[in-house]
Amino acid sequence: MGIQYFEKQKIFKLDAGNTSYIIGIVDEERFLGHVYYGRRLSDDGIPAESLMRINERPFVPSDNNRDRISFYETFPFEYPTHGIGDYRETCLEILDSSGHSTCRLQYVSHSIFRGKRPLDGLPATFADEADCTTLEIVCSDDLLGLEAVLVYTAFENLDVITRSIRLINNSKAPIYLEKVLSCCTDLDGDNFDIISLHGAWGRERHVQRLPAGLGRSVFSSGRGESSHQCNPFVAVAASDATEDFGEVYGFNFVYSGNFYACCERSQFETNRVVMGINPTGFRWLLEPGQVFTAPEVVMVYSCEGIGGMTRTFHDLYRGHLIRGRYRDKKRPILINNWEGTYFDFDTEKLLSIAREASSLGIEMLVMDDGWFGKRNNDECSLGDWVVNEDKLKGGMKHLVDEVNKLGMGFGVWFEPEMVSPDSDLYRAHPDWCIHVPGRTPALSRNQCVLDMTNPEVVEAVYGMMKKILSEANITYVKWDMNRALSDLGSNWLPAERQGEISHRYMLAVYGMMDRLTTDFPHILLENCSSGGARYDPGILYYSPQIWCSDVTDAVGRLEIQRGTAMVYPLSTMGAHVSDCPNHAVGRVTPFETRGYVALSGTFGYELDVTRIPEEDRKLIPEQIRLYHKYNDLIRRGDYYRLAAYSENNIDDAWAVVSKDKSEVLLTYIQVLQRPNYRSRRLRLKGLDENAVYTDMQTGETYSGSALMYAGLNITELHGDFKGKLIHLKK
Ligand code: GLA
Repeated sequence: MGIQYFEKQKIFKLDAGNTSYIIGIVDEERFLGHVYYGRRLSDDGIPAESLMRINERPFVPSDNNRDRISFYETFPFEYPTHGIGDYRETCLEILDSSGHSTCRLQYVSHSIFRGKRPLDGLPATFADEADCTTLEIVCSDDLLGLEAVLVYTAFENLDVITRSIRLINNSKAPIYLEKVLSCCTDLDGDNFDIISLHGAWGRERHVQRLPAGLGRSVFSSGRGESSHQCNPFVAVAASDATEDFGEVYGFNFVYSGNFYACCERSQFETNRVVMGINPTGFRWLLEPGQVFTAPEVVMVYSCEGIGGMTRTFHDLYRGHLIRGRYRDKKRPILINNWEGTYFDFDTEKLLSIAREASSLGIEMLVMDDGWFGKRNNDECSLGDWVVNEDKLKGGMKHLVDEVNKLGMGFGVWFEPEMVSPDSDLYRAHPDWCIHVPGRTPALSRNQCVLDMTNPEVVEAVYGMMKKILSEANITYVKWDMNRALSDLGSNWLPAERQGEISHRYMLAVYGMMDRLTTDFPHILLENCSSGGARYDPGILYYSPQIWCSDVTDAVGRLEIQRGTAMVYPLSTMGAHVSDCPNHAVGRVTPFETRGYVALSGTFGYELDVTRIPEEDRKLIPEQIRLYHKYNDLIRRGDYYRLAAYSENNIDDAWAVVSKDKSEVLLTYIQVLQRPNYRSRRLRLKGLDENAVYTDMQTGETYSGSALMYAGLNITELHGDFKGKLIHLKK
């Protein structure tokens, strides 16, 4: 059993893979305290009381070792609440009907069962009974009549513990929830670094590592989307932890809206990590009898450095989060027309692209923005999901049938959550967009956000989408979301529920994605948000792949894909070969290099294949051959970071090793050539040290130990932006 309760010591011991997580019940107050999180412990001899420091003298002169404030300020609360004297970050803040905000939770009961229950209306990891055990601890604030159920799942063979919380109003009066975070952990230790992922449009998820100083380091989004700027991920690593060694604790929020994560190093130099829905702007009315479920946090512990954490996240998400037919399958190689044509296309142009693409081995045409309403630029028609027959002569079905005749699949772009003021939908229902009455909502990319909290809106938009998807053989959808939320106000929600908009918005979006994937299980859903502004585990529950970034430049992509792959599997990273000079950055890189970088994602093309240079076009069949040859390995294997251009200013390298260690694909990109520079030694990782590996191109053989400990010499490549693939087999 992965979770045990030891009655005598009053502790819960959660064992997940090589990890233990221990919670204690304090006898006197029935508080839950955090005892330990880290490398697996044996069941006996855990000094829970002393680890929770419950009998230490307070820091004020007093004989009372439970002097209240000093106790509350130092006790490692498992789920700290606001108002009682714990001045560090807390997880729960309420407003009761008499205007008070204090809450105090005490242990009531618990249950332990095999398996894992789904979270109501929310994305979450899943597992069979054989794979995990769940603990639910019921706590309550008897004065408020508020019950809190802390939910933990420990995975049997992965170093993963998930957490969420359910709140139930058992009183006779309404309670407003002002802050409900999903997890809190107090880590003891002196030297920690914080690793987080930041960026902007076109520069998503760049890795940042900083020492955890005293005070609060906050990572958050208040944009209504998980955002380009900050990913809902944070890791706390021992300051001497490297890619391969040392302790790392990773936290990832299974949610795509506003989030808040904070690492607080307190006055006593303990480290509290909390994560959950961003409390700013959040207020949820919990009527008597109602239940609120907070989204899940995934916690990964690694004592094998950052790389160990990464591989655990990848295994968890590939096996226990992503769903659907495409999860374990090679995805069709697609060509998307966005960078190829932008809005300037019609049936004939798309068919000429498809004809050329199919002759080269490309498997699907994706028609991006501009096929509906009267949309020839980004100033109109979002919301009017009706085919523009001036552009698509003969309609959607004709186009799709013609593409199918070429042996290719067909996919289409939607931006379901948005409306252009210049649209029939907006003219008919100006109140359907999110806005504050009397204020003109700020536009972004000339568009407003639909009030997805209103079921009529969802019904109308989904109805239009369903019609399009039912009338032709469409097997892929790109679901885009191109602006953040602002001017929060819903015409649908009553005044006392306006603070619920952002979360209800996410629930409605999830509901709609669920409907889409249930009604059309054969459709491959790819999410996108102005590039990669919604790259999070919440989305992966509905969509096995996500467009990483609008920057398709091979060099710009290196750090984006490195940061993304810190948490998310390569199989999820939407990556395409595009034309040069690159539209976003103007850089010219070799076509081969663009291919090497895109091969480590979903792989596809984003160009007008009829208009690229002949010498590039000629390389496409070879790239496609490489995709078919290596994609199983890339999708399923273990990923190792070997070098980062963002750190060394020279080159980038990573490798994927098959689970049985029988083959490895090394991708090497020399970003900048250095004069008079010879070869470069790269140490491989994760191989079988006793095996002999053969370089499949040169026929040379190496021992696994030589490859890992001495390294492989990569000879100089002449010129900037050059790359190579090295395939080694046992
Ligand atoms: C966003 C996406 C692009 C493209 C455009 C279309 O920017 O990230 O890939 O679909 O929208 O407007």
